Amino acid sequence: MNSTQPIGIFDSGIGGLTVANAIHKLLPSESLIYYGDTAHFPYGDKSPEAISKYSEGVAKFLISKNCKAIVIACNTASSLGFETVKKLVGDSILVINVIDPVIELIENLNHINRVGVIATKGTIKSKVYDTKLLKIDREIQVQTLATPLLAPMIEEGFFNNNISKTIIHSYLSRPKLKKIDAIILACTHYPLIKPEIAAYYKAKIEIIDNALVTAEYIKIKLKELDLLSDSKNPKLQFYVSDFTTSFQNSTKVFFEDKVHLELKNIWK
Ligand code: DGL
Repeated sequence: MNSTQPIGIFDSGIGGLTVANAIHKLLPSESLIYYGDTAHFPYGDKSPEAISKYSEGVAKFLISKNCKAIVIACNTASSLGFETVKKLVGDSILVINVIDPVIELIENLNHINRVGVIATKGTIKSKVYDTKLLKIDREIQVQTLATPLLAPMIEEGFFNNNISKTIIHSYLSRPKLKKIDAIILACTHYPLIKPEIAAYYKAKIEIIDNALVTAEYIKIKLKELDLLSDSKNPKLQFYVSDFTTSFQNSTKVFFEDKVHLELKNIWK
């Protein structure tokens, strides 16, 4: 393994570009290979077996591209496909999901004891956040809520407007999300509505953005392994399993730099 090899990142579609963006900003010398499995989008309401199979297939593709690390940018795939990917690669490649970095962060933030989690149905049903947060060695209360309207809403460009405000308020005002110290934005798309969520809570609680936390975590892990790149010519490559112009157009929302999506159907 050497430091100039790319970091592989995957998601169900283009939402994981929020994670790619956070990594690119923090580690601009890293080459990135992004795979958006748009042919199977959305992952949020698929079965655990399907997500596991898709995660394994995409991981194989990223291994074939000689990646030094695989980042599962999708929360749903992090919940339901991480173990499969870990089993596939063993200790040969660093595999990072977007959940463990957040759990580690909360473990170190002793003032956070009541945690809310918003995510897709798949992530919430997997109970992965409940299970991992309750393993922390202090009393933590966890309240999870599936918020399935948020990802398609954001994908359609509905944020920072009255419609998004109404939908966000309707979810966040649910009784179970009252009395929390922090909320985890446990979906690739939610960093884009972070300002609206922050406005709702009026700075009274902490808002935990998985994309940023994961980028910091990767930096630490690559440094520990002496795999941080200092390349002057890093390459950014973006692949999708199915191509539509609407996906291409939406990439602008998720990634500040101009992204050219290349079609690479690994499922044939
Ligand atoms: N990427 C998914 C996640 O973070 C959201 C979109 C989908 O359902 O595929 O859970």
